[in-house]
Amino acid sequence: MNKKNNSIVLPKVILAPLAGISSLAFRMINRGFGCPYAFLEMIHARSFALSSRKTGDLTVSNADDRPLGIQLLGNEDYYLEKALEKISAQNYDSLDFNAACPRRKVIVKGEGAALLKTPQILKRLLKILVKGSCIPVSAKIRLGWEDAIKSRDIACYAEDSGINAIFVHGRTKIQGYSSDIDYESLRLIKRSLKIPVFASGNIFNASLAKKMFDETGCDGVMVARGALGNPWIFQEIIAMLENHPIPPRPSVDVIAQTMRKHFNLCFELHGEKRSIYIFRKFYAWYTRGISGVKSLRTKIMHTASAKEMIEMIEEFRTKAVVNNAVRNNIFCDNFD
Ligand SMILES: Cc1cc2nc3c(=O)[nH]c(=O)nc-3n(C[C@H](O)[C@H](O)[C@H](O)COP(=O)(O)O)c2cc1C
Repeated sequence: MNKKNNSIVLPKVILAPLAGISSLAFRMINRGFGCPYAFLEMIHARSFALSSRKTGDLTVSNADDRPLGIQLLGNEDYYLEKALEKISAQNYDSLDFNAACPRRKVIVKGEGAALLKTPQILKRLLKILVKGSCIPVSAKIRLGWEDAIKSRDIACYAEDSGINAIFVHGRTKIQGYSSDIDYESLRLIKRSLKIPVFASGNIFNASLAKKMFDETGCDGVMVARGALGNPWIFQEIIAMLENHPIPPRPSVDVIAQTMRKHFNLCFELHGEKRSIYIFRKFYAWYTRGISGVKSLRTKIMHTASAKEMIEMIEEFRTKAVVNNAVRNNIFCDNFD
């Protein structure tokens, strides 16, 4: 396959792939507040190669949803090669390979984070992607399976495959999503690799993004849980990077307006029933840490129509009392 482009240009802040969350609606809301690069959620190479219906839903996008990366999961050479053929016919900006997912149903098949235990297999799979891809290739890893002692070696193996960049979640597989971030190991990886190193983990506000840059020397950061119900995080991190004053946290009116827009996008994409199911989670995330709306967060679980959802957003707007001190520190849902 001809190489169209083997160099990568990534901005300093990127929206991470988030399984079950990274829909077109979610990406567009974040782009609206400055997100300069986003990823589709992980897609299994076999489903992608075989064009399963679910994969079709996961890849829904539009011309404004750019630049956009695709992320593959898997460990079968044949399906990775088949997936590459399909990718070459589409216009993604980069291809990432997932060696970080800790879910049981993934690791029992030797995929995702299980590849951290066999860095030589990870390198071989990455080589297949690098060889056959017409767009830049990256890898997303964690610091290791159980401890971070070999994190530098794993990252070096991945780099040796010829990938263009690496995303590193600063926790091991065993640490899931809740432990502290190991900034020191991330720093060691950054110092050891020549390719750009992007750090992921606990980027919940601009100060934590700054801490990540300062402590690791990373080339960029990936925002994950920090963007849930909080698309403003992008404009805040970008202001911090450009040495501009950080914009004030959004008012209740802006939060409600964004919720309405997000719900309407979900509705257009997924229809009434599914959009209500999806948006209930977002309602809870948008309203986290805000006083006066506790009862609404329970009531939202019983919403049954789009009209009711819009009414619930309006009720939030009239009842909410924003306490910024709290809102700055709450974006850390535990997905373990
Ligand atoms: C619900 C959820 C889904 C995720 N899905 C993916 C995924 O599809 N691909 C991936 O590489 N990482 C995935 N991640 C990991 C995140 O991209 C990120 O690396 C991790 O959450 C650490 O960042 P944070 O502490 O800022 O949330 C997921 C995380 C969560 C919480």
